[in-house]
Amino acid sequence: MKGIVFTGFLDMVEKKFGIEIVDHIITESKLQSEGVYTSVGTYDFVEMQSLLVSLSKKVAIPLDDLIYNYGLYFFDTLVNIHPGIFALYKDPIELLSSIENHIHVQVRKLYPGAELPTFKIIKKHEDELEILYFSERAMYMFAKALMEKTFEHYDQDSQIQLEKIENNGTKVRFLISKKNGAYQKN
Ligand code: HEM
Repeated sequence: MKGIVFTGFLDMVEKKFGIEIVDHIITESKLQSEGVYTSVGTYDFVEMQSLLVSLSKKVAIPLDDLIYNYGLYFFDTLVNIHPGIFALYKDPIELLSSIENHIHVQVRKLYPGAELPTFKIIKKHEDELEILYFSERAMYMFAKALMEKTFEHYDQDSQIQLEKIENNGTKVRFLISKKNGAYQKN
């Protein structure tokens, strides 16, 4: 996992819970990196899991909620660092259906060693998108947050439902629709 994900995460923890909590979770997690991250470095995903589990215990917030909130926060970082990518798209469904074949392709070049999910488009209409998420890291709540923020970015409301296909969250179906009506199956 890239350093930018760790530095952003620790920034968020500091802003929301304070520097003492940052110190606590770093100590508690017994990290190989000792909690020293540079934004261009690459670190073991296990470190992120340990930090999240320590934080969840300390602040008594479920893991899924923490990862979702981190996704909301991380989106703003992505927009600040890569405004050009967002400027290429005029519509949230166009952007979301281009992650796999364009956005994360660029990301792989910009961030060597990035560990990215796979998205497979099942159905795409003007107002609806059905997409499958695959990742060993099971960061589907992070994905949900980024999707919701993508709609907000274009001043549009959204309704995003997810269905776990694998219980551990490594394979998840997303049913995405522009507001006014849930996703219409078929
Ligand atoms: C300009 C747009 C974007 C950029 C630059 C970007 C970049 C990145 C980077 C750097 C990572 C971390 C990789 C690592 O730690 O090794 C990441 C992970 C991820 N990205 Fe993107 N991303 C963008 C848009 C999106 C959007 C719109 C989604 C919406 C679903 C998305 C879904 C994810 C997910 C779910 C992960 C976590 C890794 C996993 O699940 O395995 N990304 N992205």
